Amino acid sequence: MGNSATTDVVSNNREWWKEAVFYQIYPRSFNDSDGDGVGDIPGIIEKVAYLDELGVDAVWLNPVYKSPQADNGYDISDYRAVNPEYGSMEDWSRLLEELHDRDIRLIMDLVVNHSSDQHVWFRESRASTDEYADYYYWRSGDSGYPNNWESYFDTPAWSYDEKREEYYLHLFTAEQPDLNWRNPDVRAEVFDIVDWWLDHGIDGFRLDVINVISKAVGLPDGDPDAEHVGTEHFINGPDLHDYLNELSGEGFGEYRDEVVSIGECSNIDPETALDVTGRESDGIDMTIFFEHVELDREEGWQHREWDLTELKSVMADWQAAVEEGAWVSLYHSNHDQPRGLSRFGDPDQFRYESATMLATWLHGHKGSPFVYQGEEIGMSNVTFESPSDLDDIWAQNHWENEREAGKSFEEVRGEFERFGRDNSRTPVQWSDEEYAGFSTSEPWLGVGDDYEEVNVEADRASDRSVFEFYSELIELRSGNGLLSYGGFEMVRPEDSSVYAYRRRHDSVDHEYLFVCNFTGDTESFELPDTVEYETAEPVLANLNKLAADPAAVELRPYEAIVYELS
Ligand code: GLC
Repeated sequence: MGNSATTDVVSNNREWWKEAVFYQIYPRSFNDSDGDGVGDIPGIIEKVAYLDELGVDAVWLNPVYKSPQADNGYDISDYRAVNPEYGSMEDWSRLLEELHDRDIRLIMDLVVNHSSDQHVWFRESRASTDEYADYYYWRSGDSGYPNNWESYFDTPAWSYDEKREEYYLHLFTAEQPDLNWRNPDVRAEVFDIVDWWLDHGIDGFRLDVINVISKAVGLPDGDPDAEHVGTEHFINGPDLHDYLNELSGEGFGEYRDEVVSIGECSNIDPETALDVTGRESDGIDMTIFFEHVELDREEGWQHREWDLTELKSVMADWQAAVEEGAWVSLYHSNHDQPRGLSRFGDPDQFRYESATMLATWLHGHKGSPFVYQGEEIGMSNVTFESPSDLDDIWAQNHWENEREAGKSFEEVRGEFERFGRDNSRTPVQWSDEEYAGFSTSEPWLGVGDDYEEVNVEADRASDRSVFEFYSELIELRSGNGLLSYGGFEMVRPEDSSVYAYRRRHDSVDHEYLFVCNFTGDTESFELPDTVEYETAEPVLANLNKLAADPAAVELRPYEAIVYELS
């Protein structure tokens, strides 16, 4: 189906980012070109051809700005400079050029809920310099913490500053003080930064934790039962919509219609997403939501059993919001989550099958698919032998809390292996060479144990290549109006083994049917007879079977088939 059909399906709101597949690069772990054990921008440039072969349309680059790396770049000390470990501004410009030469767009990360404590603003603010005194949230500490809020990283949300003799707010690490968005000067600084990067030719931003930028007036106490105490006073806060509208007008300005803004929104539901992607504010085009990656998690780090019908219900609600005018990023992995393959699939027994089934399942929904580095070769979670294997500050804080509660590492190790962010941050496994071909010296974070079998070279040489399957899937979506804009309808929502759905539109004479077996067993699936068709042609399948009629089909473990029904 070419472009004319796309025009049929969507009459007026066609956008490049609704038709694009994004690839997320975590620069520290992607590819190291200078052998210091840390990934870098020239290392990314070496792999642009690889991204092109995969067929992606855009790259989301996690922060590469100057940063002391307390939270791996999410603590920025200079928003207009590249971290020297990663290269130079010239390298960055070259990357942009190389990507654009291949029609791949570049999205940068905008981290402006907080800065680094090493940023000149914070240094001046600590010194109470007039201009900057009010750039952050300062409160007197005469009677201890100003309120009971907790950070997202399992610590109090306030730290005392000896110099200013006051507490400052940080919803993440103490090295990430929260910027005071109520100060118009702060907002003007942010909009300048946005403008500066847009002038450099980028194609949009992923807005880090953007729905916590507005804190309730007076910073009151929070509900002690909340997972992170205080969230009701800063998630989707009172001025969020105004701030986003300003960001759109003064920040994105003349670029607004060409670029994309992708908002990471914690604790957001579909109804609120509709507000932030259009109804009440114009600052966000697309929401990164979390409900589907939280199904297996109780509060904190505890595992919870879940059922496929719950996943269906979460996804169906989000698909309904998309139908109403919201837009979402479709992902099962990123740098903050354990590997989706370990969470939803079975990398031990069915690596190829479950990696490709999950890809099919995800990409068929309505929204913009995101591939997280390494996902396209089936990388999975890793093991942590001792606390010294934990790099992530959140994991380190959690371990500290567990240790203080009297736990041994052995007792809680499983929590890190299941949920730890380090799982997805290990170096990309390029080959079976030492350090997985990522670097010539010991990487900053250990390489996965399985790198000799699971690596790009081996995968691409195999006749069951996950990479090859991803590229076919991306190709199927490319220019396909029905998949980008057609409606979504779940089939047999009560089935707890097979996840099936239709994608269709009144103006198109065929439809797609996705059928995905989420189990390691053979499952039978029967299409309800309300689904009418004359011919069923499988257009993509992860296992070698291209004939079965979906009216009644036996699906092998993790089998996925996409049918075109006419
Ligand atoms: C976002 C980032 C995460 C970071 C946090 C604080 O959730 O994705 O990596 O730790 O914000 O900036």
